Amino acid sequence: MTAKPFHLGWFTNFTPDDWNGTFANGGSPWNGKFYIDIAQQLERAGFDFLMLEDKLSISEAYGGTAEAYLKHALGMVPKHDPAPLATAIGISTTHIGCVATLSTLGYPPFLLARMCTTIDHLSGGRFGWNVVTSAEDSAAQNFGLDRLPLRDTRYEMAEEYMDLCYQLWNSWEPGAVVMDRDTATYADFRKVHPINFQGKYFKSRGPLNAVPSPQVKPTILQAGGSPKGRSFAAKHADAVIAVANGAEAMKAFRDDIRALAAGHGRNPDDVKVMFLVSPILADTKQEARDKYTRMVEAPHFIEQSLALISAITDIDFARYDVDQPLPERLLTNGEQTSLDMFQKWGSGKTLRQLVVDASGGIAASIDLIGTPESVADDMAAAMEFVGGDGFLITTSSAINRRYVVEVTEGLVPVLQRRGLTRTGYTHTTLRDNLLAY
Ligand SMILES: Cc1cc2nc3c(=O)[nH]c(=O)nc-3n(C[C@H](O)[C@H](O)[C@H](O)COP(=O)(O)O)c2cc1C
Repeated sequence: MTAKPFHLGWFTNFTPDDWNGTFANGGSPWNGKFYIDIAQQLERAGFDFLMLEDKLSISEAYGGTAEAYLKHALGMVPKHDPAPLATAIGISTTHIGCVATLSTLGYPPFLLARMCTTIDHLSGGRFGWNVVTSAEDSAAQNFGLDRLPLRDTRYEMAEEYMDLCYQLWNSWEPGAVVMDRDTATYADFRKVHPINFQGKYFKSRGPLNAVPSPQVKPTILQAGGSPKGRSFAAKHADAVIAVANGAEAMKAFRDDIRALAAGHGRNPDDVKVMFLVSPILADTKQEARDKYTRMVEAPHFIEQSLALISAITDIDFARYDVDQPLPERLLTNGEQTSLDMFQKWGSGKTLRQLVVDASGGIAASIDLIGTPESVADDMAAAMEFVGGDGFLITTSSAINRRYVVEVTEGLVPVLQRRGLTRTGYTHTTLRDNLLAY
């Protein structure tokens, strides 16, 4: 098989799993075992990583109350802290990367840098940080601010934040830990340096009070979509995670990230671009199509999906008639790129149609509905057209084991037989596995 292989990641969050569906058997995954089990399943299938999305508030974006979110346990709430779960996943697996989303709005940089170092040690060099700047006023209000800073300011702050973290991670020179019994020396103080960082937004003395971890800095994931966001992602990320509407847009996005990475002096091959998809798999194409139809025609599907999109975009979609096109192009200080992806301004589609198009979220770069063989065909064709580098798989609705098994025991073996995804891991750290091809 001569096809160029691609990478697989899994996108989920520390939220209730499918608790009231036909194949539901859970809903209270708070001891972490459900997600650990899933990570182990993904590891058997050779996934690069499992990433845990995160938000830092209970949204009231839809209809001005938290009702839709709490009542339906929509992907956004309740949501537990991804960092301890990523740690538990790291110590319960051997090869797969564990990625937590941590917001530059929430953590002081010193605490975040130290936590990343600690989890990277605990996972043997398999920790990743999905860098986000947060996109909701309600999150900002949980951290003592009245409003979210403007997008450009958020990225400017994040730029400084990264610089500070890098300096902390490098505040110990290689070889600083000597553990020399003869001189009773654990660490050589001459190789551990304060950083005395003084920025516009952050200050930190340093050095980090933690020993450098196997990756030194965690593998960095980022999902910037705006021009500033893309540039930020191309500068810092080992993997850029993205949604794009269709193969043409995926290619344009990847080409852009690669050009931006080169502009930042990086080898574009060191930045993997991975596209969000939510495959719907069944024994026949018709059954898969029926499954999809059942999902989008389910009671409350439109309302629940809109509530989710409201939470992501900070726009109240309860205000709009679902059977009409949106009256204007909507703007947000939150995730504008995600909003544009959803609203497809100018398409003339009704709000209901937009929801159906988006598979209930903003979760589909290309439609993957069919048998493992036909979906593998579609993934291979898209990757060949786009040029690489992989997919980030998620569910359109709440996660259950059955869905994961359909991917790991149905789809992935087909991809592996075709030489399109890995059958084993060749490296120890997440970054090395990601950059292996
Ligand atoms: C695949 C994907 C995953 C994301 N995960 C998170 C997340 O966990 N938490 C969060 O606050 N934002 C998340 N975002 C939003 C991004 O961080 C970013 O705000 C968004 O893509 C819009 O880009 P922009 O801020 O440059 O406009 C995600 C976006 C995408 C496409």
